Amino acid sequence: MAPSPYVAPVASSTAVFRDDIFKGKVLFCTGGGSGIGKGMTETVMRHGASAVIIGRNLERLTAASQELSQKTGEVCIPAQADVRKPESLRDAVKKAIERFGRIDFVICGAAGNFLAPISGLSENAFRTVIEIDTIGTYNTVKATLPHIRASKGSYIHISATLHYQGTPYQAHVSSAKAAVDALSRVIAMEEGPHGVRSNVLAPGYTMGTEGLSKLYPKGKNPNDDEKMARPLGRYTEIQDVANATVFLFSDAALYITGQIIPIDGSVVGSSLVPYPQAVLDPASVQKMLKGKL
Ligand code: COA
Repeated sequence: MAPSPYVAPVASSTAVFRDDIFKGKVLFCTGGGSGIGKGMTETVMRHGASAVIIGRNLERLTAASQELSQKTGEVCIPAQADVRKPESLRDAVKKAIERFGRIDFVICGAAGNFLAPISGLSENAFRTVIEIDTIGTYNTVKATLPHIRASKGSYIHISATLHYQGTPYQAHVSSAKAAVDALSRVIAMEEGPHGVRSNVLAPGYTMGTEGLSKLYPKGKNPNDDEKMARPLGRYTEIQDVANATVFLFSDAALYITGQIIPIDGSVVGSSLVPYPQAVLDPASVQKMLKGKL
């Protein structure tokens, strides 16, 4: 595919939304210590919210929360928890309530991924990703729901676009994220009458994330890959997902719930097969699987 004559710019959400729209609000974000979750948290904080970021690695979380507080001038605290362990999540919620007294927004962002063909995917490997992505989302919703009902708050679940087609070597993640999409729709139906909204953001291949570094050989940029479609001239940036987050949590989206919004510049809708080079090139897959077959 010839390079696009147009490359979409990446807007700053503060250029679009007032910077105090989330003043007094509190965000609870699993997977907030790095990648997309961290970027979403930073952008929500830039609009006035305080935040609690949740993850397994306390050192990484503490560094991230200090960085986020410093960059935004708002308060961010770390809470160590494994989303697979409901008790540890309940403790994180307790910490959030003790510190801030409320939770308004929840991002279910904790996820795990690796490339593996179904023939080489052990029961434990499949279960591990289902436990982190799907059951972790369920656990997060269960632990936070009373507080989200109290604040008439909102959930955003981070899904993916892998399962809107068949993506090789992603049976585990595709299954897990399909369940996340389904869960969010049911939450929207059941909790709407309590004033709670639930939506899904499905990022495409997102630059600068651990997920992409697993799908794409080091040192190569998918934006230079001619085999892959990108109608808007580039792949997803974390800021694209963060901007959609601000919109969905804001009063501009008070009538939007139960929706799944791909943030991928229509890559999944394109006629070219949007598999990264690593997936298209068997030699590179073999290298990345490192004997896991
Ligand atoms: N191919 C095949 N199986 C793999 C694998 C790979 N590349 N990586 C892990 N597994 C298997 C393990 O072998 C194990 O199965 P087994 O007991 O049958 O051998 C199972 O998955 C669990 O792995 P383990 O490392 O013990 O689990 P963990 O809980 O410590 O970590 C992940 C699992 C998925 C979280 C880990 O791969 C990880 O840290 N990923 C980084 C997070 C990430 O990718 N984020 C981006 C999300 S898009």
